[in-house]
Amino acid sequence: MTELIDRINALKRQRNAVIYAHLYQRGEVQDIADMVGDSLELARAAAKSDAAVIVLCGVYFMAESAALLAPARTVLIPDANAGCPMANMVTPRELREWKQQHPGAMLVCYVNSSAAVKAECDICCTSANAAAVVKSLPADAEIMFLPDQSLGDWVNRQTGRNMRLWPGFCPTHHRILARDIDERRREYPEAMVLAHPECTLEVVDRADVVTSTAGMIRHVRGSDRRQFIIATELGLMHRLRADFPDRTFIHATPLADCANMKLVTLEKILWSLEDMATVVTVPEAVAARARKTLEKMVGIG
Ligand code: 13P
Ligand code: SF4
Repeated sequence: MTELIDRINALKRQRNAVIYAHLYQRGEVQDIADMVGDSLELARAAAKSDAAVIVLCGVYFMAESAALLAPARTVLIPDANAGCPMANMVTPRELREWKQQHPGAMLVCYVNSSAAVKAECDICCTSANAAAVVKSLPADAEIMFLPDQSLGDWVNRQTGRNMRLWPGFCPTHHRILARDIDERRREYPEAMVLAHPECTLEVVDRADVVTSTAGMIRHVRGSDRRQFIIATELGLMHRLRADFPDRTFIHATPLADCANMKLVTLEKILWSLEDMATVVTVPEAVAARARKTLEKMVGIG
């Protein structure tokens, strides 16, 4: 493994590349990254980066967002098959039909969506700033929110705004069940429950804190509690245990493992830098509109 990491680092220098990894990536990938963050932090880092090459260790829409926000950089994804099943639950055509049914509504898309879908929307959000984005819209606006119904439900509760929700969901977060939280609470009565808003409302209702992945890290840092039950994708456990060795983290269920996030490996990062593949680009026909939707979000929250 050390030799593999040495080869990656040598190529990184040669190519003037940086490695950005999402918090759901494999532990060994997070450990070699220049920056590890949630979707919003990755988007912001890409927008500010002055590297020639950004290796985006995450799923495809994240690499597309980096390509949109950093058009002068070459964005590589180590495995182009790493898609997000939730992002694929809405197509641009379905979205256009939905828009026709509700003329005049404002469209808010979760960053977990394709660039082609973003191009059809007014503004984008991540789990870290979704409520702030919705609140930034005119008070009397009819809002269409997509593709994550669970996040939409949660934002609707935070904001009380007039929202229609697309029926998409994250298969990984929906594997966390209410009874998992109940069982973990019985086993660890002192623990605090942190849940991601992609979880079902039954899970969210049982949580002490509902927040994005980076929000969970910030919450633990600011808390004097010792034990935490974590209701999100398993990759975050690596970061939490590494950053807070004096705390105990219990995962709600080992089933919350996103297979797509785990497609990226150290070997594939090396091959990606060797072959300069796969380069992620967004077709010109949608890039300008999708970029506008994304850029409006980057400053909020
Ligand atoms: P964030 O909390 O980073 O927005 O991530 C949620 C997610 O599921 C990314 O795929
Ligand atoms: Fe998509 Fe869910 Fe995997 Fe995130 S965790 S990439 S939302 S399937």
